[in-house]
Amino acid sequence: MSSAGHCMIFAKSESQIIGFPSKAIVLMQMRFDGKLGFAGGIIEVEDESVEAGIGREMLEEMGIDPAVYPLSKGDHVSSQPFHCETLPQVKALHFYALEVTEAQIAEIENNARNAIHYGEEVLGWVRVPLYTMTDGYNGFPAFLDNNFVGNARDQLLEALIKTGIMTKEEIDSAVKVAKFSKN
Ligand code: GTP
Ligand code: MN
Ligand code: MN
Ligand code: MN
Ligand code: MN
Ligand code: MN
Repeated sequence: MSSAGHCMIFAKSESQIIGFPSKAIVLMQMRFDGKLGFAGGIIEVEDESVEAGIGREMLEEMGIDPAVYPLSKGDHVSSQPFHCETLPQVKALHFYALEVTEAQIAEIENNARNAIHYGEEVLGWVRVPLYTMTDGYNGFPAFLDNNFVGNARDQLLEALIKTGIMTKEEIDSAVKVAKFSKN
């Protein structure tokens, strides 16, 4: 039996992107399967804690040292049962959000291509556009129309609310204009 665990790395920020205020920098991964997801993976629950397993995956996929960026129970966002025919051994999904500084995000991005799984499981990292442009669709709503692995899209939305980066109302209005609106 095992579970899967993933983690959203983010930094609060005052920066602007092409003139739009962005309250945070949030990193997501382009996976080998063409879908967007978070750092993390399958945890061998007999051998490692959920936090340690996600830390190991963050090292493999992002090159970040779990001794420098330890995950704690306080970073936990949600857990849920998981059923998937191709991964029958995985019974649960755990999701965390780890806050770092803006300078640390830059350092993580600079170092990410040295990660052992870069160019294999991981094809790159992207910053999520968190603003909506004046046409009402481009920016965050358009980003939500990408293809996400598993329930990573829902995990992104819930973590943005839980970390105070966006309000429930801001999320709801972006989801409403997204073409592949699911909720
Ligand atoms: P391997 O080392 O190649 O086995 O991959 P991994 O351990 O890194 O596993 P992966 O990150 O692919 O996660 C395992 C499974 O969890 C995937 O097949 C997806 O179904 C699911 N998954 C992957 N990323 C995410 C994510 O960000 N959120 C959620 N909810 N599920 C994800
Ligand atoms: Mn992995
Ligand atoms: Mn992974
Ligand atoms: Mn793995
Ligand atoms: Mn792997
Ligand atoms: Mn593997």
